[in-house]
Amino acid sequence: MRIILYLGKGGVGKTTTAAASALRCAEMGYRTLVVSTDIAHSLADSLDRPLTGLPQEIAPNLFAQEINVVEEVHRHWGEMQGYVGGALRRQGMSKAVAEEMAIIPGMEEVVSLLHINQQAEEGHFDRVIVDAAPTGETIRLLTVPESFQWYMGRLSSWNDPTKKIAGMLLKRFVPDKDIFSGLDNLVEGVKRLQAVLTNPELTSYRVVLNPEKMVVKEGARAVTYLSLFNYPVDAVVVNRILPGLESNGLGEAFVAAPSGDPYMARLQEIQARYLGEIERDFYPLPILRSPWYDTEMVGVERLEILGRALYGDRDPGEVLYKGQPQQIIEEGDDFVLKLPLPNVELEKVTLKKRGDELFVSIGNFKRELLLPTVLAQRAASGAVFTDGVLSVRFPPAGGATPAVRAAETNGTTPK
Ligand SMILES: Nc1ncnc2c1ncn2[C@@H]1O[C@H](COP(=O)(O)OP(=O)(O)O)[C@@H](O)[C@H]1O
Ligand SMILES: [Mg+2]
Repeated sequence: MRIILYLGKGGVGKTTTAAASALRCAEMGYRTLVVSTDIAHSLADSLDRPLTGLPQEIAPNLFAQEINVVEEVHRHWGEMQGYVGGALRRQGMSKAVAEEMAIIPGMEEVVSLLHINQQAEEGHFDRVIVDAAPTGETIRLLTVPESFQWYMGRLSSWNDPTKKIAGMLLKRFVPDKDIFSGLDNLVEGVKRLQAVLTNPELTSYRVVLNPEKMVVKEGARAVTYLSLFNYPVDAVVVNRILPGLESNGLGEAFVAAPSGDPYMARLQEIQARYLGEIERDFYPLPILRSPWYDTEMVGVERLEILGRALYGDRDPGEVLYKGQPQQIIEEGDDFVLKLPLPNVELEKVTLKKRGDELFVSIGNFKRELLLPTVLAQRAASGAVFTDGVLSVRFPPAGGATPAVRAAETNGTTPK
């Protein structure tokens, strides 16, 4: 079984890409489920078929579903919070603290994921394609299982009657009543889910982009955080590429056939700039490309065309890249950011840091990176480039080191 999640900023083409990928998988003979977790569902519009909360077969091998647990969870969880808060107060806890304790952050998200995982298992699907909510929410969703486990750890200190009530209420909205028949079992379920979602053999994350500034930025941030939490990103999709653009695949894109219309020609220039930037900033992730069509890409026929553009003869369910596009390791009190870079000339590495942005230049090669908060709070003290990997060192903040400063380094290592 393979789970593939498409994420990205609103409107870039996540639903379209997810639907097209699912169709392609189904055509290749894999039993496929495409499921949307975005509250603003548009999967039915994209496939041009009415959908419900249960998987429906809409083409040979292809099942589709718009999951909607948010309301259900709100209803039952609200009720449970009331009970739990009351029980805690009776144990002598102050009202404010009791109510605070009874809020479990991200419950809806966890339940959505649990549903998907359960369906994947029960439906015996070879492929589960997830059309996710816009990036910010999805990242929150994916980081929830961890904070959720931490929170549940705290709950296990509750006394038995409270847990029993909580367990009874949980039964109403978690998918499998036997598996999740209590808090402890729910914790187990979430742990298993976490294991599935971080296993690169089972799950892949693909960030959908358009060649434009804000979209690329948000996409870069998504890769940063997914990597930080060990979620395996295996490709980026660049959707809506204008005709007439070419690139060498290594960060140099240009307008090969400029449009006669000056308005279009300027748009081509802008796209060429961001195409190049995408190839540099998302290296070493493979890039899947789809053109900007002059029709709306809805309905099975057009989605098939888009799927062919993206994958050619390839199988969308393959693991397209193995390894971490970036990694943070601890060395004593330092953090070291490891970043694979293409074959650049070994020259002086220059780092500039501004807030959470890190600008790396090696000779003519330039790359921009969005740092997770944990690194953004520190200053970079130096960088070395060895065996295709750039290592940037971040000593602890404080002391004489200013939190934000531009760092010049001498860190080249000749081979
Ligand atoms: N490559 C493309 N060419 C033309 N129209 C596209 C393309 N990709 C997406 N669209 C259209 O753009 C709109 C938004 O796409 P959608 O997949 O719903 O975005 P998202 O799910 O990211 O919000 C839809 O109407 C879709 O048909
Ligand atoms: Mg969508």
